Amino acid sequence: MREIILGIESSCDDTSAAVIADGILLSNVIASQSVHEAYGGVVPELASRMHQHNIVPTVSEALRQAGITPSDLSAIAYTRGPGLLGSLHVGTSFAKGMAIGLDIPLIDVNHLHGHVLSHFVKETENDATPEFPYLCLLVSGGNSQIVLVNSPYEMEILGQTIDDAAGEAFDKCAKVLGLPYPGGPHIDRLAKDGDSKKFKFSRPHLSGLDYSFSGLKTSFLYTLRDALKEDPDFIEKNKADLCASLQATVVRILLDKLELAVRQTGVKHVAIGGGVSANSAVRDAVDNLCSRLGVKAWIPARKFTTDNAAMVAMAGWFKYKNKEYSDLSLPPFARTSI
Ligand code: KG4
Repeated sequence: MREIILGIESSCDDTSAAVIADGILLSNVIASQSVHEAYGGVVPELASRMHQHNIVPTVSEALRQAGITPSDLSAIAYTRGPGLLGSLHVGTSFAKGMAIGLDIPLIDVNHLHGHVLSHFVKETENDATPEFPYLCLLVSGGNSQIVLVNSPYEMEILGQTIDDAAGEAFDKCAKVLGLPYPGGPHIDRLAKDGDSKKFKFSRPHLSGLDYSFSGLKTSFLYTLRDALKEDPDFIEKNKADLCASLQATVVRILLDKLELAVRQTGVKHVAIGGGVSANSAVRDAVDNLCSRLGVKAWIPARKFTTDNAAMVAMAGWFKYKNKEYSDLSLPPFARTSI
């Protein structure tokens, strides 16, 4: 009999459902929420209402695209946290209700494990996957971590941000440039036409593998404040160069620590994950670093970088194989690490 897992993701502003059968992805449906654009950031109450609106059609569509019915499912995996509590409650309640109705196991997934294990999502039997142990640079709107992945069940955070996340630095700086939310993709696009050496922004001097992005953000703001006193059109005239210089600094901060981690651990495989891993400069820089160090780089397809249920179903798949089922009384959690 086929082993089929439904994955459900609702941690932030994307409602997603995916089906994995015998380890192969059959469908991955994502309903994004444009309602937040007008507010320049995700409004939690609106996000949970939109999840309620989207969850039934999203799950139905994932089952339809996979060519299965609910009675074919072996288990339901869902994101328990971290994320927005109201949003998580929608996915959690739906997953629990469906698991009770079908009398099949429920599997809670840590969203961050999903990102780290997204490289195991196979669209065909022949897709390759990383070898353990590997390092994962997990960079998103809420996290910047270097994770040592010893197995699907054993991960260790070697370094993480002590203040802002890399995505947050992109988004906050983009906001003062007048770019729409989330700003990361806009900075990526504009940076292509800019001079990355034109402006110098601060980089942290932290020993070890921890990150910090708040100093960069402050120095970016001070540069703008001082320049705008002299020239009110400074931003318009220098937008591409500001984006390119900011992006280059983020990449440099991320990559310096990643290189140190590769040298310290001696791993032979390095992966990246999370929304910021969609960034062109981050992807190129990781590729180059890995070639230089003689290790294999795992750069995810862009559709698996941002929040998606395929990675949740995959992390759930590993737990299912290990019979790690969840108690129906488990509440969602807003904050946690790996
Ligand atoms: O993993 P993710 O979808 O979810 C959250 O952590 O919320 O990551 C979202 C983050 C945002 O900060 C967004 O600006 C950033 O990923 N992002 C990018 C790019 N695409 C998404 N940052 C830089 N360049 C990109 N191309």
